[in-house]
Amino acid sequence: MKTQVGIIGGGPSGLLLSQLLHLKGIDNVVLERQSREYVLGRIRAGVLEHGFADLMREAECGERMDAEGEIHHGIFIAHDGVKSRVDLFEHTGGNSVMVYGQTELTRDLYEARDKMGGKVIHNAEDVKPHDMLTDAPYLTYRNGDEVIRIDCDYIIGADGFHGVSRKSIPADQIREYEKVYPFGWLGVLSRTKPVSEELIYNKHERGFALCSLRSQVLSRYYIQVPLTDKVEDWSDDDFWAELKRRLPVEVADALETGPSIEKSIAPLRSFVAEPMRYGNMFLAGDAAHIVPPTGARGLNSAASDIYYLYHALLDHYQKGDDTGLDSYSDTALARIWKAQRFSWWMTTMLHRFPDNIEYDNRLQQTELEYLLSSKAAMTSLAENYVGLPF
Ligand code: APR
Ligand code: PHB
Repeated sequence: MKTQVGIIGGGPSGLLLSQLLHLKGIDNVVLERQSREYVLGRIRAGVLEHGFADLMREAECGERMDAEGEIHHGIFIAHDGVKSRVDLFEHTGGNSVMVYGQTELTRDLYEARDKMGGKVIHNAEDVKPHDMLTDAPYLTYRNGDEVIRIDCDYIIGADGFHGVSRKSIPADQIREYEKVYPFGWLGVLSRTKPVSEELIYNKHERGFALCSLRSQVLSRYYIQVPLTDKVEDWSDDDFWAELKRRLPVEVADALETGPSIEKSIAPLRSFVAEPMRYGNMFLAGDAAHIVPPTGARGLNSAASDIYYLYHALLDHYQKGDDTGLDSYSDTALARIWKAQRFSWWMTTMLHRFPDNIEYDNRLQQTELEYLLSSKAAMTSLAENYVGLPF
């Protein structure tokens, strides 16, 4: 088989790039290790920055997002039982975020790919990139006993943190930066009315908590838990009781509880691999970087890679101009590191760190007090939360 762009990974990064390229007549194939049901069974974040929503529209995948997603103009930050609103709209001169679940967004991308006859191959086993340093790279994958080869101009590694593409780069050609946090987030999805129309980020001495939502009938809540906790340790009742303890009283009193329809623990990690290019293979999304979820940057960081990569590939195929491809890694990483900084800052400010000394705790409290009393600090939070310009 032959194509122009061979994409490893059928998550949001790979599918969005595939769709955008196809619309411009650039042939591509997506190789996904899992079944579609498996990919769509994963519950992930749900806050899209403005630029990402625009990219979905450009990919002709924005219809359901625009109909069912919610535009949010603010978020709440609560500490010591007091809730303060950060007006994203006002502090960014009219910007906002779109609340729309990653699962729904991925479903829309799959449907769009199907409608256009896009080539998305599921259950592709043993995917491997080859000859990335030559002008004739290729991919192989296995279907039962058969090994299939796909020749391409470029390989895109959009196969997430545990994917094969980053791991195929020789260790002396890539540098990895990692920070692992000493806690995780226990998340619960429930068919209940969200306790707040806007997200509430809560700092509490028992640990961080987040009130989020997918729609007016579907809520998503998280609490910080020790890494040693297992999902089985947490009954629904225990979860709701602990969440309530961490929320301001009026929020806890208004909380509607119900059976969990999904419950999972995710460890918090920051990770960046650079450069994001190895010969004619380009990394994008979680394959190259991870953030803790506190700043809602994960999916948005993936989208910014796709924005740069899409335009770089367009310039190559439409104008024979490779400057975008040559600068991709530097351009993408400059924005990625800013998202890393913001996610680290939000995480550090709002969580309980088991090894903190009292001095650290007082500084943490001061950071929050400063944020909520300073227009400049709130503007900084707001411009990062809605997404820095591409
Ligand atoms: N071969 C083929 N596909 C693979 C392989 C492999 N060896 N390894 C992983 N994959 C697939 C995974 O099954 C997954 O569907 O690659 C896809 C990667 O998708 P994601 O992990 O969702 O990563 P990405 O598309 O970059 O999405 C951005 O940012 O913070 C996160 O939650 C956010 O998942 C979102 C991500
Ligand atoms: C979510 O709804 O899953 C969510 C929202 C905001 C975050 C993290 C997760 O910062």
